[in-house]
Amino acid sequence: MTRSDRDTWDLASSVGATATMVAAARALATQDADPIINDPFAAALVRAVGMDFFIRVVDGQITPTDTGESGEVELQTETDSLAVRTRFFDDFFTGATAAGIGQAVILAAGLDARAYRLTWPPGTVVYEVDQPTVIDFKTETMASLGAEPTTDRRTVSIDLREDWPTALRETGFDDAKPSAWSAEGLLMYLPPEAQDRLFDHITALSAPGSQLATEYHPDSGPTMAERGKAMNARWAKLGCDVDLSGLFYDGQRNNVAEYLSARGWQVASRARRKLFADYGRAYPTDEALAAFRNIIAVIATRS
Ligand SMILES: C[S@@+](CC[C@H](N)C(=O)[O-])C[C@H]1O[C@@H](n2cnc3c(N)ncnc32)[C@H](O)[C@@H]1O
Repeated sequence: MTRSDRDTWDLASSVGATATMVAAARALATQDADPIINDPFAAALVRAVGMDFFIRVVDGQITPTDTGESGEVELQTETDSLAVRTRFFDDFFTGATAAGIGQAVILAAGLDARAYRLTWPPGTVVYEVDQPTVIDFKTETMASLGAEPTTDRRTVSIDLREDWPTALRETGFDDAKPSAWSAEGLLMYLPPEAQDRLFDHITALSAPGSQLATEYHPDSGPTMAERGKAMNARWAKLGCDVDLSGLFYDGQRNNVAEYLSARGWQVASRARRKLFADYGRAYPTDEALAAFRNIIAVIATRS
């Protein structure tokens, strides 16, 4: 699978299938004996997408205890990794809105059901931005499940390589008020210069006191292409028949923490390894598995 400037997808193809993949992991993580997240909609959303492999995952036909060649419990590691990531962003939004931020923007929302499953303070507005097919699918599927948003959910159906700030404002976003932003599972699907543009737009739209949560791959470790191939190989070993390699954009990227600091954000970083520890999950001992998890989670505050 290769990328192009104006490529589009649904939830069963290209980058869209990765949203289904992480939803499948959230469904499994929700079923853990000692869950650190609760996403009661993930399994139903995955079933509605209709990809056979991921349906078998959420139906328990492929289990977290299946081992890959490395001997490490591959699906459990994958699930734990996405569970700690989900929990990090859950905690971010809960904290930011409890502190008085009244508008949240979930960029590349995919099958993220936070607008339906988190408790938001009264009056909060949650904007979800993603490609139109992705947004429409989730809105319609959640309605067919009888699920109701727990907040004022507003959708912005647009590609993030287009003029999404205008579309966001037209939906009611007020850049004079502080906002809470997430870019979760997104940066690697944008070319390096589009990543910079994304942060430039967020910075321009963020009143003082705004907060941003994201995660990035530091310069050290595998390249994006290697990460993409490895992600594909991990799921392929479990029987995934969808080609997920080639979706990440390679090339030299600006370091996210440095980029944001230089633009007036106060940046606090935590390595994925630390998130595993903070949320009580075992970090992979297998070096190859661990190398692909040298990811840094960031919460930045606009001063
Ligand atoms: C790995 S999924 C993550 C989804 C969600 N953040 C989560 O963690 O469940 C990647 C998401 O990024 C979205 N995405 C990637 N590039 C995009 C773009 N250029 N414009 C809009 N959405 C994009 C995809 O549609 C997909 O929903």
